[in-house]
Amino acid sequence: MQGMNAPSNLKHEGLKQWVQEIAALTKPDNIRWADGSKEEYDELCQLMVDSGTFIRLNPEKRPNSYLCRSDPKDVARVEDRTYICSRHKQDAGPTNNWMDPDEMKATLNKLFDGCMQGRTMYVIPFSMGPIGSPIAHIGVEITDSPYVVVNMDIMTRVGTKVLDVLGSDGDFVPCVHTVGKPLKPGEKDVAWPCNETKYIVHYPEEHAIWSFGSGYGGNALLGKKCFALRIASTMAREEGWMAEHMLILGVEPPGGEKSYVAAAFPSACGKTNFAMLIPPKAFDGYKVTTVGDDIAWIKPGPDGELRAINPEAGYFGVAPGTSYDSNPNAMETIKENSIFTNVALTEDGDVWWEEMTKEPPKKLIDWRGNEWTPDSGTPAAHPNARFTTPARQCPSIDPAWEDPKGVKIDAFIFGGRRSKTIPLVVQSTNWINGVYMATTMGSEKTAAAAGGLGEVRRDPFAMLPFAGYHMGDYVDHWLNMGQNVPEPPPIFSVNWFRKGEDGKFIWPGFGENMRVLKWIVDRAKGKAEAVESPLGYMPPYEALEWAGLDNFSREDYDEVTSLGRADWEKELLSHVELFMQLNDRLPKEMAAMREVILSSLWRWPERWHLRR
Ligand code: GTP
Ligand code: SPV
Ligand code: MN
Repeated sequence: MQGMNAPSNLKHEGLKQWVQEIAALTKPDNIRWADGSKEEYDELCQLMVDSGTFIRLNPEKRPNSYLCRSDPKDVARVEDRTYICSRHKQDAGPTNNWMDPDEMKATLNKLFDGCMQGRTMYVIPFSMGPIGSPIAHIGVEITDSPYVVVNMDIMTRVGTKVLDVLGSDGDFVPCVHTVGKPLKPGEKDVAWPCNETKYIVHYPEEHAIWSFGSGYGGNALLGKKCFALRIASTMAREEGWMAEHMLILGVEPPGGEKSYVAAAFPSACGKTNFAMLIPPKAFDGYKVTTVGDDIAWIKPGPDGELRAINPEAGYFGVAPGTSYDSNPNAMETIKENSIFTNVALTEDGDVWWEEMTKEPPKKLIDWRGNEWTPDSGTPAAHPNARFTTPARQCPSIDPAWEDPKGVKIDAFIFGGRRSKTIPLVVQSTNWINGVYMATTMGSEKTAAAAGGLGEVRRDPFAMLPFAGYHMGDYVDHWLNMGQNVPEPPPIFSVNWFRKGEDGKFIWPGFGENMRVLKWIVDRAKGKAEAVESPLGYMPPYEALEWAGLDNFSREDYDEVTSLGRADWEKELLSHVELFMQLNDRLPKEMAAMREVILSSLWRWPERWHLRR
């Protein structure tokens, strides 16, 4: 192995020593420090074009962009291989996989021994959040995947400036990643190296991350779910702030005061769409702006308000379903300088995925690299195919998206994918009631997670796969946060996904969500009308703007805001299942809140309507 090749401004002995230790263990051929430059990005992309990992897209259609096909067995996060290795099993809680940290280290030491042979080891110093922001934190990812380096270049702030901020004794979260496929001398590499054995491991007490065997998304871009959610949620609890699976957006009425909201929806439930919402014509003059589409770090500010940053610098968004109809801002963002993973390739060297255009192209190469026609009967793009694209290219990017102070959050929103039971929108009656809504949030399964499609799984705070500690303690932390800030923002629950008898979504969704969003920000300012429902405050029909919305009747509105007694009996029963699971650490308020709803159920009409 050659030397460290460390940059001249690396002054941090602890970091140097750690890099040497990892190199001694993993035995790469070379070490290369990523500097985040355009030259480096272009060089590594070319390297991957040459090796067959990347396909350069037609520069006329999609300048400076690439298609990448993963191994078909490495297409999503692997929740069953993701571990929280706290000292005590109790601290990881029943919703996380756990192994004793010493035992895990023994296992991983064997797997990592020599795992980078024949490869280059990249060292990526990165900042989650604007470099130097008091809300930001630094990480260093070691990886043997150039795909990870170029994706990290887009998703985080990489480079030598990070080393300046780190100085000689700054804190960083060490992240070690390998695809787990060493090369014997002379052995030819494959386009997407990975290993059947996978481990995504977090040591919450040490704030350290080790990932083996996968090159995909949240398994490999360790700044994202592993650091910015699992480790950061642990840090946040220790230090009195919040690390959340939330988008952040701004709403500015014409001539009025701007608000920001943070919204938690589970994976593949519409955060990117909502974050980039374009208001319909009836909202002429309204501006909706994007701060983040996946993760929010929120800290109490100097005046006790909650201030949020997006720790990321790019979007790793779900491609299928993205179109000029559903999300024009995303389509504009990905026009250039983007990486597309597991989408289809068109005959003229561009990308395609389901619903990108009304008519599918007649011939494509699908995400597995096979010829495809509309009659093939298989999806052309993998349902969890993703684009990696720089946030600064987003037309709706908020002017304050890199403000080191963050933006003041005026409302929290929680929403899952529920075809029944959960109404279009409801405002909680108080903080505890809002925490109850967030804790009991459920969603029907999507392609971003393992498991059967369609089945409801409880996903507290949209954080079930991302909390770095016991979910009961998580709820407790939220209750504490509500107490620790003088005026906690109001909490809302939304559901864009109610279906009618015909199995179709009743609510038109997408840009039309503005109608609900406006009510939410107005309510947060105490400016909108509401009526009391058995669950909280709801907008009467008259409180929403309806101009320009065809094909949605007042009866449809009654339907998506109605509450079925039998549905709620079932719903509350399944809340008990969650509560029993979290029993030892779940704050008592949750069971009490459930009891309040349960005990009044018998008073409900069979179907409760806003209009009586
Ligand atoms: P992760 O990146 O996985 O955390 O997810 P995300 O929440 O950012 O997911 P994304 O925005 O990519 O979700 C896309 C899915 O949500 C697609 O299936 C969309 O069709 C669907 N979707 C988004 N907004 C709406 C909406 O308002 N109504 C309906 N019915 N579907 C929506
Ligand atoms: C999610 O699954 O919530 C994502 C994609 O945002 S990944 O980064 O792969 O976890
Ligand atoms: Mn996500």
